[in-house]
Amino acid sequence: MSVKHSKVHLLILLFVLDEVAGYFYNRPSLSSDSQWNPNGTTIVNETMIGTNLFDLFIDENNTVYISNEQKQQILIFVQGNVSWMRNISMNLKNSSSLFVTNEEKIYVDTFYSSNVSVVSEIEVNSSWRVNSISRMNFCEQCFDIFVSEDQTLFCSLSQQHQVISKSLLNQWNHLRIVAGTGSEGSTSTTLRNPRGIFLDENNSTLFVADCGNNRIQKFRFGSFQGETILSNGTFQLNCPNGITLDGQGFVFVVDSNNHRIIGQNSNGFHCLIGCNQSAGSNPSQLSSPSNLQFDSFGNLFVVDQQNHRVQKFDLIIISRQWKSTGTMSVVRKDHTASILTNGKVLVTGGQTNSVYLNSAELYDPSTGNWTTTGNMSVARVYHTASLLSNGKVLVTGGANSVSLNSAELYDPSTGSWTTTGAMSVVRKEHTASILTNGKVLVTGGWTDSAELYDPSTGNWTTTATMSAARYRHTASLLTNGKVLVTGGQTSSVYLNSPELYDPSTGNWTTTGNMSVVRVYHTASILSNGKVLVTGGQTSSVSLNSAELYDPSTDNWTTTGNMSAARVYHTASILSNGKVLVTGGVSLNSAELYDPSTGSWTTTGTMSLARYRHTASLLSNKTILVTGGCCYFSSAELY
Ligand SMILES: *[C@@H]1O[C@H](CO)[C@@H](O)[C@H](O)[C@H]1NC(C)=O
Ligand SMILES: *[C@@H]1O[C@H](CO)[C@@H](O)[C@H](O)[C@H]1NC(C)=O
Ligand SMILES: *[C@@H]1O[C@H](CO)[C@@H](O)[C@H](O)[C@H]1NC(C)=O
Ligand SMILES: *[C@@H]1O[C@H](CO)[C@@H](O)[C@H](O)[C@H]1NC(C)=O
Ligand SMILES: *[C@@H]1O[C@H](CO)[C@@H](O)[C@H](O)[C@H]1NC(C)=O
Ligand SMILES: *[C@@H]1O[C@H](CO)[C@@H](O)[C@H](O)[C@H]1NC(C)=O
Ligand SMILES: *[C@@H]1O[C@H](CO)[C@@H](O)[C@H](O)[C@H]1NC(C)=O
Ligand SMILES: *[C@@H]1O[C@H](CO)[C@@H](O)[C@H](O)[C@H]1NC(C)=O
Ligand SMILES: *[C@@H]1O[C@H](CO)[C@@H](O)[C@H](O)[C@H]1NC(C)=O
Ligand SMILES: *[C@@H]1O[C@H](CO)[C@@H](O)[C@H](O)[C@H]1NC(C)=O
Ligand SMILES: *[C@@H]1O[C@H](CO)[C@@H](O)[C@H](O)[C@H]1NC(C)=O
Ligand SMILES: *[C@@H]1O[C@H](CO)[C@@H](O)[C@H](O)[C@H]1NC(C)=O
Repeated sequence: MSVKHSKVHLLILLFVLDEVAGYFYNRPSLSSDSQWNPNGTTIVNETMIGTNLFDLFIDENNTVYISNEQKQQILIFVQGNVSWMRNISMNLKNSSSLFVTNEEKIYVDTFYSSNVSVVSEIEVNSSWRVNSISRMNFCEQCFDIFVSEDQTLFCSLSQQHQVISKSLLNQWNHLRIVAGTGSEGSTSTTLRNPRGIFLDENNSTLFVADCGNNRIQKFRFGSFQGETILSNGTFQLNCPNGITLDGQGFVFVVDSNNHRIIGQNSNGFHCLIGCNQSAGSNPSQLSSPSNLQFDSFGNLFVVDQQNHRVQKFDLIIISRQWKSTGTMSVVRKDHTASILTNGKVLVTGGQTNSVYLNSAELYDPSTGNWTTTGNMSVARVYHTASLLSNGKVLVTGGANSVSLNSAELYDPSTGSWTTTGAMSVVRKEHTASILTNGKVLVTGGWTDSAELYDPSTGNWTTTATMSAARYRHTASLLTNGKVLVTGGQTSSVYLNSPELYDPSTGNWTTTGNMSVVRVYHTASILSNGKVLVTGGQTSSVSLNSAELYDPSTDNWTTTGNMSAARVYHTASILSNGKVLVTGGVSLNSAELYDPSTGSWTTTGTMSLARYRHTASLLSNKTILVTGGCCYFSSAELY
């Protein structure tokens, strides 16, 4: 007796240690005007997943779990990348549900494929061991499975018109009935062929897609009285199947036999996808969709059952509006902005009317306030500012009434400036790039020369000269450590001939040409390593075109055009990998480039048309835009 007792204690202790809190699936924060592109893209088709699919699961790291019953596999696309596939061989037949917890335990419906277990647990990390779950020996499949944070497995028994639960912590716990009486019906306590289930653990609520009653029911934990939140009113549902929630507790439903997706926001329910209700395989159509999941960015993934594919519908971020934040102490254009290691933003110099500025100020994201900090030794416009690996900021060259070769260092710990070695020549409208070895490469600026700053000595050394004297060009550090310089002009000649600097040899080589000459353009390194060049101008024309440099082929290809020609604009990589361009001469608009589709979508407009401004990605993933032409001290956040 006492031996038995202590065993039970040990078990409980182990299980308690096993418990890990926090969501491992995605409930993204969406604003009330969120929209999804009505045209989906196919993530996987029947070549990879066969014809008998039903459910998928996406974890917080956007790893996708899906089965291929024909090949008897569960496929795992790490971080959603189909190229990074793992697979688990597993006997699966007519399986309808799969759920993954944060310890990478997969719970899968094995009613028709295992004579041992209605639901099987697969421990992915420990050599893919398959466990059966004891005391779940009933004679029906779990149509949908959900595992709560406290390790309780919920299961919808469609033919029994019930939802039941079973603790995974204690095998001796019995099954509990959570919703439904066991007899079909359409009252508040009964269900008819329930399918998808979702637990809102924040709010102790269970949501049930009550397919046979064409309604969505919600049950407070412990209550058998369901409340109908969506039924035969505005939307005539036809067998709702999958169900999921966003971060605010709004409900998203697969209306399966109407081949559409319905979502809720603060204004009620709306049709989002497949709204003409015709089954088909166009990008805007679904055919008997069964399930849906969010990824961490708020994109919707739909199991498009009869089309044997998984469709992804991108969240269109039109809802992230601009909002104003603290105002700088002076108006500035042609200034610099650098994110310090403490998260503050250092703005330096620039000009206000024709007064050149030596002042600098700091933006504190935690308060939204600006404070002035030490002045530079000279006023600078058309200079550069680079955050060194030691946390200091190196400012180089630029001009006031004369062009400058001096450089100085800002120390965030003291808020003061010290001069450092001077460059060998004066430079303005040049570039500065931090190399992987920590040195700073400055290029051009009304000269073809380039030189390297060594932060450990404070000295400059010249390196090979470029093929042309450039200014108003760009320089980007590639993932292979080389620096790509594009465009710019040499006196009145505009350039389309990029060149590459190799820090290991100190040499420049030319590369394939861009499709057009560009000055006042932008260049950004995408997460796939390619370089996106946008806009700018030729000697006479402003450009809306964009093109991509592929370091692996050393070649350029054009990509989607922006909605507007932009000159003297900014481009910033967002945390979701998209590129935000803002402003440009006479423009308050902004737009987003999606590297996966090569296309642009417009997004909220800024309060002012800005150019010669700055844009910086704050550590909380918000973009800070400051100042710009003519002449602004205001700043705003995206
Ligand atoms: C969706 O595709 C249709 C047809 O290809 C096209 O006309 C429409 O503009 C697209 N919608 C969006 C938002 O891309
Ligand atoms: C599935 O996609 C692959 C490319 O990923 C394509 O080659 C194949 O033709 C597609 N199969 C079907 C049935 O659409
Ligand atoms: C997916 O994986 C492939 C192969 O490793 C890689 O080339 C590609 O960049 C990855 N895609 C993304 C979006 O990470
Ligand atoms: C599944 O994994 C096994 C072992 O890792 C591998 O040999 C096999 O090629 C994989 N199957 C597919 C379809 O990728
Ligand atoms: C997601 O990735 C983080 C960091 O690698 C890891 O700690 C976490 O466990 C992962 N989540 C899941 C559900 O695998
Ligand atoms: C939904 O309402 C329509 C008319 O309003 C009715 O004909 C239909 O039977 C209702 N369906 C259900 C499942 O209640
Ligand atoms: C929580 O549930 C209650 C009762 O069902 C409901 O009134 C409330 O709106 C819910 N709150 C959220 C944030 O979903
Ligand atoms: C990021 O920081 C800015 C500045 O303090 C703030 O206004 C904004 O709400 C923050 N954004 C998020 C997503 O936390
Ligand atoms: C800084 O921000 C705080 C809190 O937002 C505010 O109370 C304070 O007045 C601000 N200070 C200045 C100098 O703007
Ligand atoms: C740096 O420059 C100074 C002054 O030109 C010189 O005295 C010193 O030796 C140089 N240091 C290095 C490491 O080159
Ligand atoms: C590149 O640099 C190396 C060493 O600095 C030199 O020997 C070589 O001639 C250079 N090559 C070119 C093409 O300039
Ligand atoms: C570079 O692009 C051009 C035009 O698109 C093409 O003709 C050429 O073959 C490409 N070169 C390489 C090395 O990919």
